Amino acid sequence: MVTLLEGNTPLLPAPRLAEATDPSLAIFLKCEGFNPTGSFKDRGMTMAMSKAVEAGSRAVICASTGNTSASAAAFAARAGLRAFVMVPRGSVALGKLSQAAIHGAKVLVVDGNFDQALDIVRRIAETHPVTLVNSVNPFRIEGQKTGAFEVVDQLGRAPDYHLIPVGNAGNITAYWRGYREYHRDGKMGSLPRMVGFQAAGAAPIYENRVIEEPRTVATAIKIGNPASWGPALEAVKDSRGWVDIVTDEEILRAYRMLAREEGIFMEPASAATVAGLVKIVKAGRIEPGSTLVLTLTGHGLKDPDTALESATRPTSVPASLDAVLAQLGL
Ligand code: F0G
Repeated sequence: MVTLLEGNTPLLPAPRLAEATDPSLAIFLKCEGFNPTGSFKDRGMTMAMSKAVEAGSRAVICASTGNTSASAAAFAARAGLRAFVMVPRGSVALGKLSQAAIHGAKVLVVDGNFDQALDIVRRIAETHPVTLVNSVNPFRIEGQKTGAFEVVDQLGRAPDYHLIPVGNAGNITAYWRGYREYHRDGKMGSLPRMVGFQAAGAAPIYENRVIEEPRTVATAIKIGNPASWGPALEAVKDSRGWVDIVTDEEILRAYRMLAREEGIFMEPASAATVAGLVKIVKAGRIEPGSTLVLTLTGHGLKDPDTALESATRPTSVPASLDAVLAQLGL
């Protein structure tokens, strides 16, 4: 088993978020940014990489908006495999790119978007001795479903609603599979409604059409033609949930709010879930008194540029007591 001891992430109560939306709600954050490479991808990557090694593979390949490539690079290093990763130019956060690079992956920056890159790596994996570790690899979903198992173990029950960002749509598929399996095994009495959030400029499932040029500040979910489109639709349909959208402005507002009021620094794609919560509570779509779990998919340090652009700039001062005090206004 190729592992970095991923999983077992905290399920953190979010009382300020409840206060700001509806105090009758019990809101919990599944903090996946605390995984070894800083995102939920590690849950799937331990499985995909272990199976690749078992099959005698020597190399792995993926397309990525950043987190999959960071995780693939780290687990490939751990396994002693080569990693090839393709990322879209200008759309990958700095932290993610630095992870893939330092773990020794061959990083190709493509003049195109994620969907085009995924198409290329899928074709390469069909014809060359290299294992595809995008979530079209079924072992990825099998690993990621453990997120749902943990939520139920930590909460002692299933939430009423599970809110999650949607990009390539693997994670919503995985959570729903996890919940269904735990339910079938008698580990929980009821099933949650799955609510997925896409960025308004990259909302193929919501709009029911491929988006040729997706746009959003949440680069992790800047995807116009998700690979797990069908299974994601099934998840929301079977669970009586739905797919919704949030604007970049709503995402950035939620991003700052969580950081300042709950002490949680997550990346913009994760903030889409919090923005979505604010939106659907306001719209009256959540039953009062409900228990909600929000998956926060990736750590805020992944994307330091967006953090600095979204917050008050640091102030430069001379190294003098008076100058510093003048700035503090104590
Ligand atoms: N949040 C973050 C931080 C992500 O990195 C991703 C996907 C998602 C949400 C959406 O998850 O694709 O399963 O629907 N990132 C992929 C990547 C596409 O390449 O790292 P999804």
